[in-house]
Amino acid sequence: MDVYEALYTTRAMRRVTPDPIPLEVQERILDAAIRAPSGGNSQTWRFLLVDDRDVLARLAPIYQRCMDQVWNLVYADRLAAAHADPDDPENAQMLRVQRSAQHLADHFADYPLMLFSFAQGDPTGGSIHPSTWSAMLAARAEGVGSAWTVAFVFELDAVLEILGVPVEEGWIFSSCVTFGYPTGRWGVAPRRPVHEVSYRNHWGTPVGFEVPTPLWPR
Ligand SMILES: Cc1cc2nc3c(=O)[nH]c(=O)nc-3n(C[C@H](O)[C@H](O)[C@H](O)COP(=O)(O)O)c2cc1C
Repeated sequence: MDVYEALYTTRAMRRVTPDPIPLEVQERILDAAIRAPSGGNSQTWRFLLVDDRDVLARLAPIYQRCMDQVWNLVYADRLAAAHADPDDPENAQMLRVQRSAQHLADHFADYPLMLFSFAQGDPTGGSIHPSTWSAMLAARAEGVGSAWTVAFVFELDAVLEILGVPVEEGWIFSSCVTFGYPTGRWGVAPRRPVHEVSYRNHWGTPVGFEVPTPLWPR
């Protein structure tokens, strides 16, 4: 697959089938992930794949409660505004994200595979996030959808205990990525255009070009 196709179309793919991800596909995803950079090439990371139905069933109600917290604490204002004016394009987008993210929460135990990532001594996350994104890009190349989640931070102790993480060694939860074969189609990720979020030389100075529509496909 063209690298640009993977970059443009690796979306939060939360609607997936329960079909298992073959081990050789999992191998390729993780082996690609650990090629990612880390500070000083320290590789102070651990990756925990979860496909045990019992473990997922124990995690599912925790994830549900955590997403309730996300809606009630983090996104309360934006959701209230979105419900007040649902036809506004940004509000409509927010409501779509909520529906999709809630779908993940409602079907957490049905995903065939999850990847939990952990880092040691990495306060910025800069040494773990690239590997997570690489895993998602590699999954895209394999036709496997993925979704990055961090909602577990609201009840981390219970999650770490279920997973047997040796927190006394300093392992910090970074993310939980769901995997599965998509039920829908891959599309280009809609984003605010580059010239609205980029500057040149000085904060606020136009970047010098405008890209009103995605440059892929060419
Ligand atoms: C740091 C981070 C945390 C996220 N946490 C969650 C989460 O807890 N639950 C969830 O459903 N999606 C989560 N997402 C996925 C985002 O909602 C998603 O990337 C965003 O809506 C863009 O989706 P799209 O690529 O399909 O357009 C997270 C993404 C990132 C990068």
